[in-house]
Amino acid sequence: MSVVTVEGQKPLKVAVLGCGVVGSQVVRLLDEQAGDIAARVGAPVEIAGVAVRRLDAPRDVDVPSDLLTTDALGLVSRDDVDLVVEVIGGIEPARSLILAALENGASVVTANKALLAEDGPTLYEAAEKAGRDLYFEAAVAGAIPILRPLRESLAGDKVTRVLGIVNGTTNYILDKMDTQGAGFEEALEEAQALGYAEADPTADVEGFDAAAKAAILASLAFHSRVTAADVHREGISDVTSGDVRSATDMGSVVKLLAIAELVSTGSTTGGGPAEPGVSVRVHPAMIPRTHPLASVREAFNAVFVESEAAGQLMFYGPGAGGAPTASAVLGDLVTVARNHRQGTRGVGESAYADRAVLPMGETRTRYHVAIDVDDRAGVLAAVATAFATHGVSIQTVRQEGRGDDAQLVVVSHEATDAQLSATVAELRDMDIVHDVTSVMRVEGTDE
Ligand code: HSE
Repeated sequence: MSVVTVEGQKPLKVAVLGCGVVGSQVVRLLDEQAGDIAARVGAPVEIAGVAVRRLDAPRDVDVPSDLLTTDALGLVSRDDVDLVVEVIGGIEPARSLILAALENGASVVTANKALLAEDGPTLYEAAEKAGRDLYFEAAVAGAIPILRPLRESLAGDKVTRVLGIVNGTTNYILDKMDTQGAGFEEALEEAQALGYAEADPTADVEGFDAAAKAAILASLAFHSRVTAADVHREGISDVTSGDVRSATDMGSVVKLLAIAELVSTGSTTGGGPAEPGVSVRVHPAMIPRTHPLASVREAFNAVFVESEAAGQLMFYGPGAGGAPTASAVLGDLVTVARNHRQGTRGVGESAYADRAVLPMGETRTRYHVAIDVDDRAGVLAAVATAFATHGVSIQTVRQEGRGDDAQLVVVSHEATDAQLSATVAELRDMDIVHDVTSVMRVEGTDE
């Protein structure tokens, strides 16, 4: 490890918890960039120790053996530790270690989206009580600076919607289905062979990873507490080649979106105007190919933010991987180290707006529905009646003949999700309907 002296400044000591894909890159960069980091912080930042599960595990970086320890709690409790980087992931022991670190007077940088989405308030309150920083830029969309822009750069604006592609694995799979005509299973196998998808791909494919990130984005964008349990979640394992072709036919592409938006709840307080709530959801959706998010290919991430004054902003880049994620961790580390030196803190939790989270059934969306039907008089009218019965207005209908049958592709105007799913349920029960072959929400249009 190189030694850096910034004249007269006592080194800040950092404990690194975890030395896996991200942790090893944090350790490497802390060593390689030591001089620049010291100059930027105004004091050297030195590793006090690296907590690992096994001392003899193979790792991507050489860590001096006297820095390695299996006693993570002992490490974060040391008097000389000023800063703690948590890159273990998962709920426990990460939560106990972060709480112990804060109680011990250290500021914390974490990449732990699952913990923040499940129990963020406990951590924020502990940081507040300790008067220390809790930063977590790396928890959402890897290297992409998105949390700091929401927390700081846009703090004087009013964010109205956040649309994110925040899971690289699912974006890779959907991109292969779109560009190579691959089926879901084939594209998943390719993602696994390339190391994007885990052997058990559930967290990515079923939207759990994106839902945790959606909760964090929504909390910051709307100054409210939103947890993973508040997020409506649907994954991509039911997306078919037919859905992808249907999207292509209407100039769209299928993406797994994390969506957080301000919505009217209809409820009023004290007879005043209705307080906006938030809708937070993760599901596959068709977006027009002209939308900036449609150009996000392969395993890249992007977050599209709409705000009243700034208008539309897009943040794009690598959303995973050791070095990209370590870049975000180190950015936070430099910030909290500067704050620590100056005896100050950065922004803490902002949840003053306390907005209600709207149930999915009340969220207004648009649907694309492809239906195989008999090709005879009265069928189109009957299908239109099913939409009308549930108060859903049709925007476009396209019909393609298929011998004695036809396929109808209906795109609705906005209606509540409950109205739309009731319509689809009725369509599925109708004798003239052979099959409802594709149902997908439509996002990113002007309506
Ligand atoms: N597994 C995630 C992805 C990265 O595929 O984007 C970590 O959140």
